[in-house]
Amino acid sequence: MSTGNESTASGSSAGTGLRGVVAAQSSMSKVNGEEGILVYQGFDIHDLAENSTFEETIYLLWNGRLPTRDELDVLKAEIRNNYAIPSEILVFMRHFPHDASPMDVLRTCVSTLAFYDKEGQKTDSESAKLASVKLTAAFPTIVAAWERIRNGKEPVAPDPTLDIAENFLYMMRGEKPDPGEARMLDICLILHADHGLNASTFACRVIAGTLADTYGAVTGGIAALAGPLHGGANTAVMKSLKEIGEVENVESWLEDTLSNKRKVMGVGHAVYKTEDPRATWLRKFSEQMGGITGETKWFEMSQKLEKLVKEKKGLNPNVDFYSASTYYMMGIPMDLFTPIFAISRISGWTGHILEQYAENKLIRPRAEYVGKFDQKWVPLDQR
Ligand code: COA
Repeated sequence: MSTGNESTASGSSAGTGLRGVVAAQSSMSKVNGEEGILVYQGFDIHDLAENSTFEETIYLLWNGRLPTRDELDVLKAEIRNNYAIPSEILVFMRHFPHDASPMDVLRTCVSTLAFYDKEGQKTDSESAKLASVKLTAAFPTIVAAWERIRNGKEPVAPDPTLDIAENFLYMMRGEKPDPGEARMLDICLILHADHGLNASTFACRVIAGTLADTYGAVTGGIAALAGPLHGGANTAVMKSLKEIGEVENVESWLEDTLSNKRKVMGVGHAVYKTEDPRATWLRKFSEQMGGITGETKWFEMSQKLEKLVKEKKGLNPNVDFYSASTYYMMGIPMDLFTPIFAISRISGWTGHILEQYAENKLIRPRAEYVGKFDQKWVPLDQR
């Protein structure tokens, strides 16, 4: 039997992880890995982090331009009106085992939200935008409620007078955060909002490309984000820092890690070959949080590790490297780092889903078949 038509036109893609392959057209974000530039809808990430808010960034991602004051107010009101999640979901969460991973809880609850939004099953632009608002509003509520439920506390009802970052910290702790801390988290949410065709965004687009609904597509995105090679890396970074323990242990820990061919989490990137521009902000936040808490060792350890990994492997820190110590010093539990990433990335996922629905084409690449041919079936008792 001929094997001729099984090879790909451009050669084998086995093992390349689709690096460099253009799989969609998008105006959401541009990652310039050579120069370390990240742009959302034409705006440099540094400009947005300096001047914008997460809500305004969401508007930008979904609409391709900055909002007027009125437009921003409308979007904020829509999000705030949808902070509360169906009470059935809170009941459901109370039955989950308390050691369930927050990412598994988020994924399950988001999938469940589809039961309560029949309109959200439609893929026209208006219905998908409304589902996007509801999902963006619900993520922080689910994550904060789970943090309280698993610790035997009552969930705190969302406060519709607060923006997403401040409201999340409020619902998680039961008290309003310091405005400076809320703004720091707000900027973290801006920084994580979108990043080209990363694994979870691609997963969302593949699912949306079948014309499955926004809830299904986002559920797949959460599953992809949870992996340690993607959003799960921020938790893994903090585990490494705790394993290292003290600044003087960094060098020996790194030698041991590299000689055992283990990866250093939070460094290296599939696209950036220079400093990840998001890391520039997060490094600053980690240092600031060290100053605020007086617990400077996490920043110092990170800084030393960054320097040594750069010297030994030529690798730079990515978005997860300094976000880990920043969140840790904010008193956020380590297994909520990736859900916080999701609280931000839902804006990018839904922006991509909207783009996918607007000009849909089923995403269906080919696999290069490397299996056998000409096998003959043999009866079971003769094998
Ligand atoms: N620690 C140690 N070595 C690393 C490394 C890391 N974090 N990242 C890459 N390398 C090394 C690889 O071992 C490989 O070396 P080799 O050529 O000697 O085998 C080389 O650099 C290329 O690695 P590769 O995994 O092919 O690079 P990539 O660009 O495809 O991978 C990541 C990108 C993100 C998957 C990878 O850097 C990684 O696993 N980082 C840690 C996880 C992480 O922080 N993920 C969050 C990304 S935002």
